[in-house]
Amino acid sequence: MRAVLSKAPGGPETLVVEDVLDPTPKAGEVVIEVKAVGINYPDTLIIEDRYQFRPERPFSPGAEVAGVVEAVGEGVKGVRKGDRVIAVPGWGGLVERLAVKAETVIPIPEAMSFEEAAALIMTYGTSYYALKDRAQLKAGETLLVLGAAGGVGAAAVELGKAMGARVVAAASTNDKVQFALDLGADNGLIYPTGPMDKAAQKELSGEFKLATGRDGADVVYDAVGGDYADPALRAMDWNGRYLVVGFPAGIPSLPLNLTLLKSVSVIGVFWGAAVARDPQGHAANMAELMQMYADGKIKPRVSQTFPLEKAGAAIKALGDRQALGKIVVVVGD
Ligand SMILES: NC(=O)c1ccc[n+]([C@@H]2O[C@H](COP(=O)([O-])OP(=O)(O)OC[C@H]3O[C@@H](n4cnc5c(N)ncnc54)[C@H](OP(=O)(O)O)[C@@H]3O)[C@@H](O)[C@H]2O)c1
Repeated sequence: MRAVLSKAPGGPETLVVEDVLDPTPKAGEVVIEVKAVGINYPDTLIIEDRYQFRPERPFSPGAEVAGVVEAVGEGVKGVRKGDRVIAVPGWGGLVERLAVKAETVIPIPEAMSFEEAAALIMTYGTSYYALKDRAQLKAGETLLVLGAAGGVGAAAVELGKAMGARVVAAASTNDKVQFALDLGADNGLIYPTGPMDKAAQKELSGEFKLATGRDGADVVYDAVGGDYADPALRAMDWNGRYLVVGFPAGIPSLPLNLTLLKSVSVIGVFWGAAVARDPQGHAANMAELMQMYADGKIKPRVSQTFPLEKAGAAIKALGDRQALGKIVVVVGD
């Protein structure tokens, strides 16, 4: 089978596509014929050895896949050949066939395409865990989402609305803000693309306050970091919750006096570790997300697809800040 491989640390240009042996299912495993692979920011990090996990090389990036069960190992119950399923291996997904533990696969609802299914779990899983379990977002509260047109950001916009919040979307271009407004955000603003000096940060904080209205944001969803973090923290309301989700713009430092002044909680979000520590909580969240999809409250927006041979270009497009919603690699015909 064909596989996209990282053989040395580096950017997407270092990835190669090669023939490797087909996997066979061990006891308790199924082999999935992969149809679609969701691309996520961690794919840009893992191939450069900058992620929390460092798989042994050669390895394939690709954290989440959707496909059809092609073969079933000994002792597998509840999953059958021909089932449409999602798997979230963390890496290893940019291949034509993938062996995973049968107990970890998630059935794909009939109405959901493979592309949507491959773009669902990491982003909505992360954002739902962040907003529901970590921030305990309530109906009527104001949620400010940074990077609101990216993968986890767009999911946070939709979930914020589904949870009854007033959502303010912030992003770096007019198209991105418009994209987030189309997802249901109540208000939006464009922030600068580049690094900001103190004066520019102060100005941005004023814009965040204007856009959030009243006394500022109850919850900030920060999947961007860098120079955007300080202005967002300054635009928070009393008892605010600041969600630390990711750092594509760099790892910021926050002045702790600001948290004291407004009784703000800074809350870390590590979805992958939370899933491993609380599989039941994760399963409950997945069931709730599937229900929201069935009710039309959430829908992954796949704006670009690439074939397996161009997976490096897909990862590059994401890393270059180009993605609107999700980028997906389509495998096979
Ligand atoms: N904590 C967790 O459990 C968890 C789980 C999944 C992902 N994450 C993290 O969440 C972050 C977003 O992931 P994603 O898959 O949603 O990525 P994505 O689709 O690429 O979105 C990232 C957004 O960050 C913004 N950005 C600002 N500066 C950037 C820069 N220099 N380069 C690239 N993007 C920049 C971009 O929006 P603008 O252009 O509008 O600024 C972009 O839309 C990543 O840091 C990822 O590692 C964390």
